[in-house]
Amino acid sequence: MKDSYLGFANSRLGSRVAAALGLPQPLPLERFHAGPPVIKGGVLIGGGGSPQLLSALAGCFKSMSAQTVAHKSVPQWLVIANQAGLLSGRWGVEDKPGEKVKALVFDATGLEDSTQADAIYHFFHDAARSVLPSGRVVVLGRPPELCASPRQATVQRSLEGLTRSLAKELKRAITVQLVYVAPGAEDQLEGTLRFLLSPRSAYVSAQVVRLGAPVGPLANTIDWSKPLAGKKILVTGASRGIGASIAEVMARDGAQVICLDVPQAQEGLDAVAKKLGAKSLALDIGSMDAPQALVAAALADGGWDVVVHNAGITRDKTIANMKEHLWQAVINVNLSTQERINDALVESGALKAGARIVCVSSISGIAGNLGQTNYALSKAGVIGMVQSMAPVLAQKGITINAVAPGFIETQMTAAVPFAIREAGRRMNSMGQGGQPVDVAETIAWFASPASSALTGNVVRVCGQSLIGA
Ligand SMILES: NC(=O)c1ccc[n+]([C@@H]2O[C@H](COP(=O)([O-])OP(=O)(O)OC[C@H]3O[C@@H](n4cnc5c(N)ncnc54)[C@H](O)[C@@H]3O)[C@@H](O)[C@H]2O)c1
Repeated sequence: MKDSYLGFANSRLGSRVAAALGLPQPLPLERFHAGPPVIKGGVLIGGGGSPQLLSALAGCFKSMSAQTVAHKSVPQWLVIANQAGLLSGRWGVEDKPGEKVKALVFDATGLEDSTQADAIYHFFHDAARSVLPSGRVVVLGRPPELCASPRQATVQRSLEGLTRSLAKELKRAITVQLVYVAPGAEDQLEGTLRFLLSPRSAYVSAQVVRLGAPVGPLANTIDWSKPLAGKKILVTGASRGIGASIAEVMARDGAQVICLDVPQAQEGLDAVAKKLGAKSLALDIGSMDAPQALVAAALADGGWDVVVHNAGITRDKTIANMKEHLWQAVINVNLSTQERINDALVESGALKAGARIVCVSSISGIAGNLGQTNYALSKAGVIGMVQSMAPVLAQKGITINAVAPGFIETQMTAAVPFAIREAGRRMNSMGQGGQPVDVAETIAWFASPASSALTGNVVRVCGQSLIGA
């Protein structure tokens, strides 16, 4: 559904009216278009203590052909970048800021004690006004639970408060994320940086991402223009809305997509599949024989590489007014089927080595919502499934992650009453709803062969919604 206010607030008259009345002034978000560069502008590098990821970063930025400049907190960057074959210069002269940049990357892995947090202040105090609209900020830390001392764990944990506040302060469609990189995962940074520093992550902000020990076989080489080339990917609920967009993004990135939806949606399903050169599979995943039907379809295809559990339903009523069948239908389709399908596909060997499972949760599952006890239970259950299954599936070389969308412009949200819809759209740091493609891009990042170090993550695609934050 069209967001008329976004257009109005960006017109000449509308922007003056919005400024005079103190109304929100959301910017149209920059979204991904095929072709380089990954980052449209320079990247300013900073760090604190003895930063541990600078060499890994230099390799990533070389591969992305990014232009980098060094803040005075990391004078060693010039030598490290040079060794990686990356041209780099100093940012700013004495105390004067340098040129505007598209991204800030702060390596906080060297911080061992809260008294060293001044390094964070100096970097962001110097650079906060120098980030271009739709810019990107990434802070890199070490997982607190793996730190050698309580002091180190404390300062690393404190980075969450920093990044969430920066995400609220920087405005102008700038996103801010924290990436915890476990020891041993340093060489797995590139896929995640490519996502978080590019327009693909337009509606993802204030998230904490964890990179851990890689799961399954590592990809030898990745064609970054078609990262999913040759991958067979099942997308459920693909006839419309977010599912259709997921199928489209997967096909764009080179995948052979199997689009699934209920038989009643056959027409829309076939239209999506035809457009993408994909297969269509009409099946009610809620039926008890669905897991075996999917195992048969996957084995007939020679195995699947990725399963995206997107199909979902709402049947809203307060619990006092809710009929039992509405309760059961939502929990069955949104949660229990995913458990049954995962178990059947894994046990039968229908998922290939290095497979990815990506689930769709919701911020309702994080914050709860009036009239959605069934839906919120199912979506919180999806988070529980991802977190509890991650270590089990890792032993089989399979990753499992979830996205939790906030307010996304679809037929589902178009049906929401006007006042609630406007509140949902504006109550986030981007001042607007997300698009289905924003969810799809996030799923494509989890599905990528470059994402072996990502498992058990839940990433919100909500523009830093105030709900459930
Ligand atoms: N739109 C939002 O703002 C939003 C926010 C948070 C989470 N989500 C989640 O994102 C996912 C997609 O949402 P959407 O807005 O595109 O919804 P949608 O209703 O437009 O699409 C859901 C699709 O799933 C299919 N489906 C439902 N039950 C099925 C079954 N038993 N078997 C096979 N297919 C089935 C439907 O036919 C439909 O095509 C859902 O899981 C939803 O809960 C959406």
